[in-house]
Amino acid sequence: MEFVDLKAQYQRLKPRIDARIQTVLDHGRFILGPEVQELESLLAARTGARHCIAAASGTDALLLALMALGIGPGDEVLTTPFTFFATGEMITLLGAVPAFVDIDPVSYNLDPARVEAAVTPRTRAILPVSLYGQPADMDAINDIALRHNLAVIEDAAQSFGALYKGRASGNLSTIGCTSFFPSKPLGAYGDGGACFTSDDTLATAMLELRNHGQSGRYRHTRIGLNGRLDTLQAAILLAKLEVFDEELAARDRVAQQYTALLHDTVQTPRILPNRTSAWAQYTIEVADRESVAASLHESGIPSAVHYPTPLHLQPVYTGLARRRRWTRGSFPVAEFAAERVLSLPMHPYLQPEHIERVANALLAAVASPASRA
Ligand SMILES: Cc1ncc(COP(=O)(O)O)c(C=O)c1O
Repeated sequence: MEFVDLKAQYQRLKPRIDARIQTVLDHGRFILGPEVQELESLLAARTGARHCIAAASGTDALLLALMALGIGPGDEVLTTPFTFFATGEMITLLGAVPAFVDIDPVSYNLDPARVEAAVTPRTRAILPVSLYGQPADMDAINDIALRHNLAVIEDAAQSFGALYKGRASGNLSTIGCTSFFPSKPLGAYGDGGACFTSDDTLATAMLELRNHGQSGRYRHTRIGLNGRLDTLQAAILLAKLEVFDEELAARDRVAQQYTALLHDTVQTPRILPNRTSAWAQYTIEVADRESVAASLHESGIPSAVHYPTPLHLQPVYTGLARRRRWTRGSFPVAEFAAERVLSLPMHPYLQPEHIERVANALLAAVASPASRA
C-alpha cells in the first residue's frame, strides 16, 4: 500500500497530463511560458483572490510573501511551532524572529486566544498554518492583526482546496501561500507553489521578486530570487486541476470512512464548524505511537509523523530558544501533539477495502499488549 498513490492518479490522468506536457515540449517556452499564466488565472479565479503568483515551491512562496511585506532584521512574526520547518525557516532566513505561539489542541492550528498576548512593538505579521488541510481560525487572527496593524500570511501549503466559512483557503488574509509538492492535495511532478493576494502593490512586488527583482527586462529594481514555477509543472497542474474537485470529494470520503471505523478507539481528526479540510493528511493521535507505527509497518501499511519535533526544539533554534527562554514545556500543546500524532495513508484513490485494511491493522495495533505497555 502507498502512503500517497501518485501512480494511480497518473494512470487515470495519463492522456491529459501527457498531452499537456507534449504541448510544452512543442512550444519550448520552459520558463514563464503560457501555462504559468493560465494556471495563475484559474487558481486566482478559484480562490477569489485578485492575483495568483506561481512560485518555484511552497517555501519560495513564503519567502516571496515575507519579502514583499518587507520583513527583515528586528522584526518578529508570530507563528506556530507545530508545522513543517519551512514556515519558521523563511522568517529566520530574512533575519526576523519566528515568535512561536502555542496551538489549539483540537485543530492543531495557531490558537488565536494566545496570539494577542504575544504581540510586541516588534511584531510585523502573523503567520498561521492551516495544518493537515484544515484552515486556521482566520477571522479571529485577522481581527487581532487589524487591531495591531499587522499583516497576515496564511501558510496554506497543506490546505489548498479547503474552505473557511465558504471562502477559499489561500484567500483568507493579506497573502496566502500554498505548495504543489507532489504529495500535496494539488501536487506537481516536482516542486511548485503559489502566493495569493488581492493587494495590487504586494502582487507586483511578489511578481518582480520571483524573477530577480525585475520590473522590466534586465531592469532590476529589487533584490529578488529565481523563484519561478516551471512551465512544465504548470502544465501538469493544469491537467490535475480539472479533476481536483472530484479528488477533494474522494479525500473527504476516505476521511469519513476512516473516522467511522476508528473514532471509538483513537482520537480522530476534528474539523471545526464552518470549515472543510483538503485532507493533506489524515492524522490521528495514539499514546504509544512508535509501537503502533511498527505494527502497521509489519502489516505492510505505511504511516508518517507530521511532525515529531516542534520548531522551538529544533537544533538550529537552540540559540534562539536560549534568548527567548523557550524550553521543553514552553508550548505544551504543540509538544503533546508532536509526541502522539500519526498520519495514515491518504489519497483520493484509496478504496473502501484499503481503508478497512488500514483501520483493522490500526485497531489491532492499538489493542496489542506492546502498544499498551
Ligand atoms: C506547512 C508547510 N509549509 C511550507 C511547506 C513548504 O512547501 P514546499 O515543500 O513546496 O517548499 C510545506 C511543504 O511541505 C508545508 O507542509
